[in-house]
Amino acid sequence: MELMERTFAIIKPDAVERRLTGQVLARIEAAGFTVRAMRLQHLTKAEAEGFYAVHRERPFFGALTDFMSSGPCVLLALEAPNAIAEWRTLMGATDPGKADAGTLRKDFGSSIDRNATHGSDAPETAAFELGYFFRGLELR
Ligand code: CMP
Repeated sequence: MELMERTFAIIKPDAVERRLTGQVLARIEAAGFTVRAMRLQHLTKAEAEGFYAVHRERPFFGALTDFMSSGPCVLLALEAPNAIAEWRTLMGATDPGKADAGTLRKDFGSSIDRNATHGSDAPETAAFELGYFFRGLELR
């Protein structure tokens, strides 16, 4: 049996506001992920800053954390074999203009800032990001 892995995903405020949550979740399940935890949450600016702390020196940090705290997100723990890489493939490139056809960011993102979804980029970030938003009890 292939080794199961978990990753952390966000349906960002642009996609939630445009009522794309159901379509994104349908694509997640059709791709073979199991949703292990899920919550709708309107992040505070401080929560967004803590989540994206690795980017705090980047020029886009202020705009990113303003946007991520501008409306509710859907926070997700996704499970599948090779989930971290598979979720990044399903999302497509960070910039929707460079994303492959059939990816979520190509189909639902509008710009590099409003790119519909987020996903962990490595096992260490997945562990940090899952733990940042979900309690151990929610992740059994
Ligand atoms: P995300 O995967 O959530 O991680 C950080 C986010 O910063 C990224 O998606 C983009 O929405 C946003 N961002 C804005 N500008 C850039 C940039 N130049 N490079 C990477 N990410 C950017």
